[in-house]
Amino acid sequence: MGSILILYHSQEYGNTAAMAQAIGEGARAAGADVTLVNTNEQRLDLEQYRHFDAVAFGSPDYWSYIAGGLKVFIDDWYIACKSNRRGLENKPYGLFYSHGGGGDVRGPLEKLFSRMGWQVGETIESYGRPNNAVLEACRELGRQLANAT
Ligand SMILES: Cc1cc2nc3c(=O)[nH]c(=O)nc-3n(C[C@H](O)[C@H](O)[C@H](O)COP(=O)(O)O)c2cc1C
Repeated sequence: MGSILILYHSQEYGNTAAMAQAIGEGARAAGADVTLVNTNEQRLDLEQYRHFDAVAFGSPDYWSYIAGGLKVFIDDWYIACKSNRRGLENKPYGLFYSHGGGGDVRGPLEKLFSRMGWQVGETIESYGRPNNAVLEACRELGRQLANAT
């Protein structure tokens, strides 16, 4: 099994973080090495990104768009790709987001991250705190990502 990065932004209630943790549980249970990075706490080094076999990207809905920390990552990624694409493209990835009952982040999230490789599973959504069904879908996504490596 390979190594999986779960890159997400979570700042307000920990809703997106709870989804990220569940994806990590599923991936670890399937034998993968898992690294969780909250873009609210650190900016990911693109040299580190090269070495992951699969990635899950998650964001809260902020004004119907992805959160700033995750936007910084994809901007950094694009600039790094222009100098050396090796290890930065063509990875299996999963998507997840949380929202407060409205918003339209799904479209921008799916469009922006379609450049990353090929999507594994369906995009997972949570209205507020993730319930058991959402957490189980997250664990399943983690298993699928582990099996894609
Ligand atoms: C600056 C900001 C903008 C937001 N915009 C929206 C929005 O447009 N639509 C929506 O449904 N929720 C919106 N929310 C609510 C968050 O998406 C929601 O509370 C989310 O679950 C927070 O995730 P977190 O606890 O991982 O930070 C917004 C929250 C913040 C802080």
